[in-house]
Amino acid sequence: MENKIIDGKAIAAELKKEIAQEVAQIIDKNQKAPHLAAVLVGNDPASKTYVSSKEKACKAVGITSSVYQLSENTTEKELIDVIQFLNNDDEIDGFIVQLPLPKHINPDRVIETIHPAKDVDGFTPTNVGRMQLGMPCYVPATPFGIVELLKRSNVEVEGKHVVVLGRSNIVGTPISILLSRKAEGANATVTLCHSRSNDLISFTKQADILIAAIGQKEFVKADMVKKGVVIIDVGIHRVADSSNEKGYKIVGDVDYEPVSKMASKITPVPGGVGPMTIVSLLYNTLLASKKAIYK
Ligand code: GUN
Repeated sequence: MENKIIDGKAIAAELKKEIAQEVAQIIDKNQKAPHLAAVLVGNDPASKTYVSSKEKACKAVGITSSVYQLSENTTEKELIDVIQFLNNDDEIDGFIVQLPLPKHINPDRVIETIHPAKDVDGFTPTNVGRMQLGMPCYVPATPFGIVELLKRSNVEVEGKHVVVLGRSNIVGTPISILLSRKAEGANATVTLCHSRSNDLISFTKQADILIAAIGQKEFVKADMVKKGVVIIDVGIHRVADSSNEKGYKIVGDVDYEPVSKMASKITPVPGGVGPMTIVSLLYNTLLASKKAIYK
């Protein structure tokens, strides 16, 4: 029997290798290596960990990275000045502002200031609008990861019923748009369910592909899906586990063991969608350095 586990770690490694090869070709031609910058405001430990993982991933593929570490007390105006500087710095191909920001800063005003051509997170209104219109754009990390996982595991999407649980701006809404577009690897019929949906099970039971991005641990149970479903689990939750030396384990939005018995393919947590998200940033930085989206 074909392995039903969608191995995100292996697929991410494959993509990283392709990116590293392309970066090496750029450097061989004596051109500047792609350069990603990250702006980090304050001392949130999770954000620091994310940014250092991004730096490590850049290094592994030959992308230059810089971090602009600003204090917790940075004003919105000072942060916007840093963004304007990065917008105008030809050395930087793309940059991200790590979220969440301290409470006194309005994230919408900050994100709106990022030049769309350097917005490798795909968070600016221009990139979101371009995605909706089917125009070239930077696709945000998690939806990018999901699309690549489906493609590279040979999951047929065209004509299938995709049910998405969760309508966030960074996962549920963009993946619904991407998979329903008239495009290769898309053309699905998409139902977007959320916390106010009536009779959720009647939809999840119809899903050929179920994307769980609802933010509740082990929410999807075996009796909510049909036999043969493809499961993409976006959730990341820490739960206490005394049998593990760390004292915790990571679970997703899907009750893995019983649901995997129903599924034809399934992403594990950890090791499914997660490893793909950082790769998207590397990929978008490469696109930015090639001026592939904005000429
Ligand atoms: N915080 C959590 N995820 C992300 C992300 O993808 N990009 C940014 N900038 N901040 C985040």
